Amino acid sequence: MRVSKRVQQIPASPTLAIDAKAKALIAQGVDVVSFGTGEPDFVTPKPICDAVVRAMEAGQTKYTAVGGTAELKAAIRGYYEPRLGFAYSDAEIIASCGGKHSLYNLFLALLDPGDEVILPAPFWVSYPVQIEMAGGLPVIVHGRPEDDFVPSIEALDAVVTERTRAIIINNPSNPTGAFWDTDQLRPIAAWLERHPNIVVISDAIYEALVFDGLAYTELLTLAPSLRDRYVLVSGSSKSFAMTGWRLGYTLAPRELVAAMTNLQSQSTSNPSSIVQAGAAEGLRQGDTLIAPMRARFAERRDLALSLLQEIPGVVVPRPRGAFYLFPDFSAYLGRSYDGFEVKTDVDLASYLLERARVAVVPGTPFGAPGFLRLSYATSEERITTGIRRIAAALQAP
Ligand SMILES: Cc1ncc(COP(=O)(O)O)c(C=O)c1O
Repeated sequence: MRVSKRVQQIPASPTLAIDAKAKALIAQGVDVVSFGTGEPDFVTPKPICDAVVRAMEAGQTKYTAVGGTAELKAAIRGYYEPRLGFAYSDAEIIASCGGKHSLYNLFLALLDPGDEVILPAPFWVSYPVQIEMAGGLPVIVHGRPEDDFVPSIEALDAVVTERTRAIIINNPSNPTGAFWDTDQLRPIAAWLERHPNIVVISDAIYEALVFDGLAYTELLTLAPSLRDRYVLVSGSSKSFAMTGWRLGYTLAPRELVAAMTNLQSQSTSNPSSIVQAGAAEGLRQGDTLIAPMRARFAERRDLALSLLQEIPGVVVPRPRGAFYLFPDFSAYLGRSYDGFEVKTDVDLASYLLERARVAVVPGTPFGAPGFLRLSYATSEERITTGIRRIAAALQAP
């Protein structure tokens, strides 16, 4: 069966590919430690599940408004108003079937062929693919690990062109776990104020997972004049351990929300009615539900970090958010282990899965060759076992 050229060009998600391979091994009874998946291992908090059941029993099982129920929009508004200092109206909010879906609709609604989108590396793997599917061109800008990968103003100046349509800020970051604080965001906010044609896409899906007592700052609050070209994308997946439920949302100028709603009306229609009720309950309870999970993630971050730091030659920045570590393993490339040739980070990830039974994701698809991404959203016991296995595998002759 011939499939379209459009889909032939879409690469498979490398994170899901590693996950699928690890799951296949686990299904065969192999003891694999998985640091591959980008999802919390916690179950969805009970108050959210209860709200979903209540919605179901109350007969909220019909189509809703395409962009989400009034209840969900009110909950989104209530969650963001104290953070931003102003309220988004219903016409400036659209809920979709997961953050990925929000971004996909956004790129389709925003980009014309040839429009460039500045993408700080390392970046989440779906951005370049989605941008290209919408006809846009991802333009990669590199930051240094020692600067939490924040791109310098010189680096931004070097990539901006007349075709620059947007920039993506993913804070905290997948894959690095880097969190950009107010001092790091301020120069970027000032740079954006000097570039009035650039739309700011803030992917804040990990906004609630910031450690060490630090506070998340939405870049918009540092430069309120950006509001008519600012797009905030987030969702319930990571903050509320709701990856499987599929609920994301976008806060943006009303023309853009109207365009995304129109697009969504012809494709998926509304996100699940009962999931919207659960997401609304999550947002209303907010940090009460998130704080216990955040505390556990922080403990695991410390454990995984200290174990990785014991491996000689591995350079690992201390991440302040999300649930990822992004160590540089380049010291271990360019040799063979027990006959297994490891030239690149991709080879290293294959070697670790096949020989050490540990699933990690190579850095190359994130725009960072030589690095590996480890998700520590797993138990302390599995973290210890897995990183010890990695250390042992790297000692192989
Ligand atoms: C940076 C980033 N943005 C958006 C998403 C989308 O999340 P979801 O579609 O599960 O809501 C993810 C998920 O991995 C992510 O890491």
